[in-house]
Amino acid sequence: MKEHEIASLFNLDNKVAVIAGGSRGIGLAIAEVYALAGAKIVVSSRKQQGVDEAAEKLRGQGAEVLPVAANVSVDEDRVNLVQQTMDWAGKIDILVNNAGTNPAYGPLQDVAFEAWGKTFKTNLDSAFRLAQLVFHSCMKDNGGAIVNTASVAAFTSTPMLNTYNITKAAMVHMTRALAHEWGPYGIRVNALAPGVIRTQLSRALWESDQGEKFAKGLPLRRLGEVDDIRGAALLLASDAGAYITGEYIVIDGGELIGS
Ligand SMILES: NC(=O)c1ccc[n+]([C@@H]2O[C@H](COP(=O)([O-])OP(=O)(O)OC[C@H]3O[C@@H](n4cnc5c(N)ncnc54)[C@H](OP(=O)(O)O)[C@@H]3O)[C@@H](O)[C@H]2O)c1
Repeated sequence: MKEHEIASLFNLDNKVAVIAGGSRGIGLAIAEVYALAGAKIVVSSRKQQGVDEAAEKLRGQGAEVLPVAANVSVDEDRVNLVQQTMDWAGKIDILVNNAGTNPAYGPLQDVAFEAWGKTFKTNLDSAFRLAQLVFHSCMKDNGGAIVNTASVAAFTSTPMLNTYNITKAAMVHMTRALAHEWGPYGIRVNALAPGVIRTQLSRALWESDQGEKFAKGLPLRRLGEVDDIRGAALLLASDAGAYITGEYIVIDGGELIGS
């Protein structure tokens, strides 16, 4: 195998990638690596300012970008996100379902049903519905890759935070079910399962003393950074992962080994 063939395995030239929940954190890191690999990027999240800033950053790195403000919990916004992308680029090759939230805190018997519903809407329903929309708008004819951001929480129980864990466990199973049903259409569906990555979402943990203690207990002795997600995300979206579907990749510094 030649050096340029290795590079072409990871090349995303002429691909169009939609990153839902892409304005910061893990989603922005994924948008950056896909753009560097050659993809056109649709960067999306709720706040217009967030997507505009992310788009400016990506354009500064030479990418072609369409910023679209969309709340993944709202069907009108999801439909509009897919429609705007189709109008702009004529196709969608890669969908990253990365938006996630964790508002339901407490033992399961006391979790407010509204917070339970909100967590499912943002973390799970949105990914399912966007996958459906993208399937019908073009992937059923052209194939593609869907990457769902799950979590190591999918494989563990975390008392006080288990609503989140349940949504991520369901996301992993949804990933396998979609991969099974859509493989014949040339659509691969996989998931990322990060451990603690230092972002706004996990700030409460890593800013506390508990964060340092937790990091010291990990086999790799440090928390994750958003850049740690890039390699696995690119593998799952590119030809390097052409025969991988229905899988999840754990990126957790070894956290799950001991649990
Ligand atoms: N950080 C970790 O330790 C960790 C570990 C495992 C899994 N994850 C998962 O990784 C994903 C990204 O998390 P992160 O840590 O990078 O969080 P983050 O820094 O808070 O970023 C979340 C992104 O999602 C967007 N977003 C949130 N709610 C949305 C909604 N309803 N509709 C559209 N966009 C929405 C946010 O932008 P707006 O606020 O503008 O909407 C932002 O772009 C999540 O699915 C999370 O569950 C994170």
